[in-house]
Amino acid sequence: ALLGTAGAGLLVGAGAGVAGAVAYERPAEGSATGGGGALGTGRVPFRGEHQAGILDPQQAGVRLAAFDLADGAGRDGLRTLLQRWTKAVDRLTAGEPAEEFDNQVALDAGPCSLTVTLGFGAALFDKAGLADRRPAALEPLPAFPGEALDPARGEGDLFVQIGADDALVVAHALRTLQKLAAGTAALRWQSAGFARTPGATARPMTGRNLMGQIDGTNNPKPGQDGFAAKVFCTPGGDQPAWLAGGSYLVFRRIRMLLDHWEELPVERQERVLGRRKSDGSPLSAPAGSGEGTAADLSVQGPDGGPAIPSDAHIRVAAPAGNGGAAMLRRGFSYHDGALPDGSPDAGLLFLAFQADPRKGFTPVQRKLSRGDGLSRFLRHEASGLYAVPPGAPAGGYLGQQLLE
Ligand code: HEM
Repeated sequence: ALLGTAGAGLLVGAGAGVAGAVAYERPAEGSATGGGGALGTGRVPFRGEHQAGILDPQQAGVRLAAFDLADGAGRDGLRTLLQRWTKAVDRLTAGEPAEEFDNQVALDAGPCSLTVTLGFGAALFDKAGLADRRPAALEPLPAFPGEALDPARGEGDLFVQIGADDALVVAHALRTLQKLAAGTAALRWQSAGFARTPGATARPMTGRNLMGQIDGTNNPKPGQDGFAAKVFCTPGGDQPAWLAGGSYLVFRRIRMLLDHWEELPVERQERVLGRRKSDGSPLSAPAGSGEGTAADLSVQGPDGGPAIPSDAHIRVAAPAGNGGAAMLRRGFSYHDGALPDGSPDAGLLFLAFQADPRKGFTPVQRKLSRGDGLSRFLRHEASGLYAVPPGAPAGGYLGQQLLE
């Protein structure tokens, strides 16, 4: 669930200016990036129409966390917290420590493309006296067959996605936000994830997940027709005005049953997905045609059956069969050791940004949970749905549109 090839191209600055999203450069993939810190100088503007960390290339490391608002903090407590966080994030994303707290962990590092993305969970609105401002689209996700969700590792009032190309910078940012929240909001859960480090491959490429699949190919891309309408909210109907330029984020902690998956021969694995592992090409086109080749769901294989099987993940998830449902997937891998039975506690921290989860994630997941060959190798273990406010206005604070 990484940004696709076009997204990866942004790593070398080719996409600067796309939807106002990427106004910084990271070192070219494959260049030497050690020591002096070309990687460290990457700086993602924190302020803008949309929050950072949605359209920007994925960083090597991420920490997802959610906080619960303390009883009695209310609307004023929330406002003060968001103002303190904003001041800190302004400085952290410039490679400077926060004024109010610093543990020196990131002292020698540059910004390392740090982004901090904020979301509001449904329960926040009642607690902060803002029930009349809760978006209808933040209604709880329905239960899906086969899931076993742990509320202690999901949900939460205030969500943050903290991404950077350096693990210490990520840890430092989370610790800072946690310290600044003391007394107002308590950490509920956190998960660490990772993606490819810029420079790890000879040229910019779409990343791979822990099943070894090239993941992110058919993501909607900035510049495509209707991209903004798929990913960002437009007020009107039951979408509130304060969410203009914002989005909704669905988080799912999805464990991969890797012991089971890795027993399958590669050709079987490819039929489960509908694309080849070598180059990401769809099974409807010759091997080597590359991940950029569009999948053709009508092509027949040599056996007369569909070349992309009827239960292949890309067929079942395809927007065409889901009323055009689309979302921007930006998930990270996680690997947290082993479960008591020895199997890897590993998988995907699935993250998908979309204009309306009732038209994006929910119908697609409903179909996947019933008819997707890949779901036999997956367990959904935690979930979260958050309203992602627009970017912090110039001189203002993150989330201000909700509170003013
Ligand atoms: C496509 C993997 C879960 C929606 C893909 C692709 C891979 C992949 C490798 C093909 C390359 C690409 O276009 O990105 C996974 C894995 C998952 C997972 C490993 C779980 C661990 C989900 C979930 C959803 C989803 C939960 C949404 C509910 C999609 C969509 C596509 C896609 C919409 C594009 C389909 C198309 O080509 O039209 N996924 N996926 N995936 N996935 Fe998933």
